Amino acid sequence: LKLGMMASGSGSNFEAIAQAIADRQLNANIQVLIYNNPAAKAAARAARWHIPAVLLNHRDFASREALDSAIVQTLRDHDVEWVIMAGWMRIVTDVLIDAFRDRVINIHPSLLPSFKGAHAIEQAFTAGVKITGCTVHLVRLEVDSGQILMQAAVPILPDDTVETLQARIQVQEHRIFPQAIAIAAQL
Ligand code: GRF
Repeated sequence: LKLGMMASGSGSNFEAIAQAIADRQLNANIQVLIYNNPAAKAAARAARWHIPAVLLNHRDFASREALDSAIVQTLRDHDVEWVIMAGWMRIVTDVLIDAFRDRVINIHPSLLPSFKGAHAIEQAFTAGVKITGCTVHLVRLEVDSGQILMQAAVPILPDDTVETLQARIQVQEHRIFPQAIAIAAQL
């Protein structure tokens, strides 16, 4: 599988997927990392793995569609088959989704369809639910929708803070994301 990764932040999921490939748990290659935020730590991780990283700063584009056109071009330039959004914090448009139909995958830190959007962990915490988790799903135009590939449950413990909960959710993200990519490729 030729993967194109998209990340905005720390890139720990990028790292987990790169490691799963190195460990031969996932038969794939990361062709390129696209990041939108110059400060994203994901870029330094890509350099350590000798994976090309391309900065497409959303502030340099007039519209979401213009950014997505540049993303599609970059993905095509690197011969990408599957688009993996690993903490990509921008809403994507049909420009990307139509170019890679049913081949865009996202990870979200809740048990969808609960707690969509950018503050899922805080919302689960505030709602007082006792179990939350993470979801890997195909991307549709409607945010955090689309076919669910894999989920993992994470209990919310009495002593949890948003930070400790997030850390435990991330452990599960790193475990299921590589597996879910393999599942998607078999659909
Ligand atoms: C993850 O928690 C993911 O669920 C959310 O953004 C976070 C990215 O983390 N969409 P990282 O950059 O992979 O460390």
